[in-house]
Amino acid sequence: MNMMRRNRLRACGKAIHRVAALFITPFTKAHKVENKYIVIDGKEEEVVPISEFINTDSKISRWISESARRVAEVGPMNPPSNPAVFQKTPKHIGPLCKDYTIFQLFTKHRKVKDFRVTSGKVAIMTGGTSGIGYEVVKGLVKKDFVVFIGARNLVEGEETVKNIKKEYRDAKVSYLELQLDSLVSIRHFAEKFQSENSSLHLLINNAGAMFLPQNNTRDGFNEQLQVNYLGHFYLSYLLFDILQESSDEEYTRIVNVSSAVHYLGCPDVEVIFKKSDRVTRYSPHASYSNSKLAIVMSSFELDERLQRKEKRIVVNCLHPGIVRTQLYKHVHWSIKWFLDIIAYYTYMSPEEGSDTVLHVALSPDPCRERGGYYDNCQKKDPNPAALSETLRTDLWIRSCEELNIPPDWI
Ligand SMILES: NC(=O)c1ccc[n+]([C@@H]2O[C@H](COP(=O)([O-])OP(=O)(O)OC[C@H]3O[C@@H](n4cnc5c(N)ncnc54)[C@H](OP(=O)(O)O)[C@@H]3O)[C@@H](O)[C@H]2O)c1
Repeated sequence: MNMMRRNRLRACGKAIHRVAALFITPFTKAHKVENKYIVIDGKEEEVVPISEFINTDSKISRWISESARRVAEVGPMNPPSNPAVFQKTPKHIGPLCKDYTIFQLFTKHRKVKDFRVTSGKVAIMTGGTSGIGYEVVKGLVKKDFVVFIGARNLVEGEETVKNIKKEYRDAKVSYLELQLDSLVSIRHFAEKFQSENSSLHLLINNAGAMFLPQNNTRDGFNEQLQVNYLGHFYLSYLLFDILQESSDEEYTRIVNVSSAVHYLGCPDVEVIFKKSDRVTRYSPHASYSNSKLAIVMSSFELDERLQRKEKRIVVNCLHPGIVRTQLYKHVHWSIKWFLDIIAYYTYMSPEEGSDTVLHVALSPDPCRERGGYYDNCQKKDPNPAALSETLRTDLWIRSCEELNIPPDWI
């Protein structure tokens, strides 16, 4: 068989594999996890972090090819550096599948209530130029918030502000440049905001990227990790003093947008911080899940630290739902068309996707109950890794080390 034909066949096989994965994933039974490691067909030697294992690609290749006895394409990994890492994970595969795609159709969507908010409060919204973020900005403007959008693209920032002002004539909305894949840009953003001499009552860390190809940022981190997690962690650190100074009368809030796929993340810091180029088989799915789990774990840790120091800042995180947005633009073309059809019929609109974010940002409950994970405007159990002090502290210290900031900043 000549080379070109073989390549074509391989591409065709991959496409079938991905389409099939999409159907099968929600219905496939989870594998057992015993003694902290995944055991496949009773053989314990195949030690794979759960996030890599559940990756739809590897799962379906096992289904298609009987001979794929090992977790295909991923390969064996070293045992986790922290033995607590894999405990209890499988029971969360159920809730995850339930939240996925068509199951969302059978869950009643809860709309955000019309909460009363003191007017003139100030919010920062990262990723407010499109999708869920754009709708949240509109929701805040309606409540008379002064909103600063962190915009990666200045043209889009300007366009967004223009559009919102067209719809709400008195909207107090502006944008500042923010590229989360650059620590310098994040510092500039914080400095520019500080130079406005404004208070800050609400920081919504919403920007995100999914399934980015294998790439490290100029700061040397896996790009998805920096954009989704580390950049926002750094931003919260840089804006912490302003949040604290603005919390005289009411609690100020940090809202971190995560995802239900955080249940599939691997909480081992060595895996989370693995550089893209050091991974033998890079999985964009696993990398995304890990970054989203890091968000949940660090939210719980930050809130705990704030409570211990009796600060009047509250931190919560959430899953907005499966929403029809640009987030899916990096999905491979071979299934993108198909996903677009599914999305059209089953995904939420961006406006519906903004409901849980607005609930956590405006409702009095998240302040009373503190440090929670929300989904469909309700508090839910997070991945148990977020409740493990050991794992959270590991992540916290490593994040501070990587960013060169003191671990006791709070
Ligand atoms: N949509 C879903 O089904 C879903 C499900 C679970 C969780 N989420 C989470 O919800 C959040 C919002 O996503 P979305 O669905 O609204 O997607 P989206 O429409 O693609 O919005 C993502 C936003 O993040 C910005 N962004 C991306 N990379 C950035 C970078 N390097 N620096 C600064 N900003 C950057 C984007 O700016 P540009 O427009 O310039 O790219 C955009 O404004 C994300 O954290 C996502 O992970 C979404």
